[in-house]
Amino acid sequence: MNSDIVHSPRNSHSLIMRHHLKAAIILLTLARVPSAFGGESLDSLVQNAINVSLAHLERSVIEVRDTTMYPTYGTKDLKWQLRNAGDWTSGFYPGCLWYAFEMSRDRRFERWAREWTASLESEKADTGTHDLGFKFMCSYGNGLRFGKGPAYAGYTPVLLAAARTLSDRYNPVVGALGSNWDSKPSGRSFPVIIDIMMNLDLLFWASEHGGGPLMEERAIHHAETTCRDFVRTDGGTYHIVRYDPATGRVINRGTIQGAGDETAWSRGQAWGIYGMVVAYRHTHREKFLETAMRLADYFVAHLPPDRVSPWDFQSDITLKDVSATCITASALFELTHYVTSDSLRAHYRSEAEEMLRSLCRAPFFTGGRNTACLLDHSVQHLPAKSNVDVPSIFADYYFLEAILRYRDQAGGEKVRGLSGGHTH
Ligand code: GLY
Repeated sequence: MNSDIVHSPRNSHSLIMRHHLKAAIILLTLARVPSAFGGESLDSLVQNAINVSLAHLERSVIEVRDTTMYPTYGTKDLKWQLRNAGDWTSGFYPGCLWYAFEMSRDRRFERWAREWTASLESEKADTGTHDLGFKFMCSYGNGLRFGKGPAYAGYTPVLLAAARTLSDRYNPVVGALGSNWDSKPSGRSFPVIIDIMMNLDLLFWASEHGGGPLMEERAIHHAETTCRDFVRTDGGTYHIVRYDPATGRVINRGTIQGAGDETAWSRGQAWGIYGMVVAYRHTHREKFLETAMRLADYFVAHLPPDRVSPWDFQSDITLKDVSATCITASALFELTHYVTSDSLRAHYRSEAEEMLRSLCRAPFFTGGRNTACLLDHSVQHLPAKSNVDVPSIFADYYFLEAILRYRDQAGGEKVRGLSGGHTH
């Protein structure tokens, strides 16, 4: 337990008041500035994006064919590269198919989603990765939410087994789950990366579904450790923090995939926002809501006029990473359900909608192009020159999720994408 993390209601109240003021000022400014891309209504852009995405996904099924292979990153000419279930991204493709089923109610998408989900089962015992939350909540987790009937009875034990495997990565001295990779590994360092926040959903889910309280406790400690050690005073985040596993002391902080140790890698920032929103969804702890808002405010404040993030907020290389914007847009739609004032709600919704407006158009959305991918211009790992400025399956996944959340909120229904059954 990190006993030095003390939540002060008075501090959190004044922080939230500052957010209200800031949001009101931003909304007044936005009211005077026409949308950078004006014109077409967001509803019609989103409807077009749904129609085209369903057609591209249907095409992807024909192209991929082998249900043990998974789209990961695209090539420059927008063809999917495939990897097996062992890749960290393997849950996103079945996740896209589940979202396509949810959008269309077309039973073929349900069948395809089930097939690509089933081929992931053996991954539940993979002790070599911290990404089991991504793999299993996007596939089996979405299957449980969208599928009905006895055909889904086997999904719960698979999720619980995956959660137990993930939970074993926890170091009680550090108060966090360890990363399975580091760019500068050293024997005595226990690396933790901000991406791991995204995997806590699986642990929370497991504790809520008969897995016992320990997994939730570990998830809470991990999120508290992240709040304490990863967030800079300006709300930007470190990608990696290396700890001494014996004492829990921080050895150093920096980046693997960002431009520099003191810059903010935009996808890491996005994982932080989304992960904190999920931690709040499951726990209702103010600290997680405040941190989600701080990180979100930093992200939004550093966006260019088209509202699509650069790959790193401080880099001279001005490439975009649409995946960071998809993740953040989806998270902001959920955040609107948790903030306590109308002005904050309107602020985060308006920011998420402006992101979606850009994502639904060229050069990001691939509508009208000969491809099975949905979005171009993601960056996997620029310092390693790996998959730079190409499609990514996780951009597509969070894009579809953001669309579902936008559509449901526009229709006044409950928010989508919640595994905890906690709706507002
Ligand atoms: N979690 C790996 C990445 O964001 O590239």
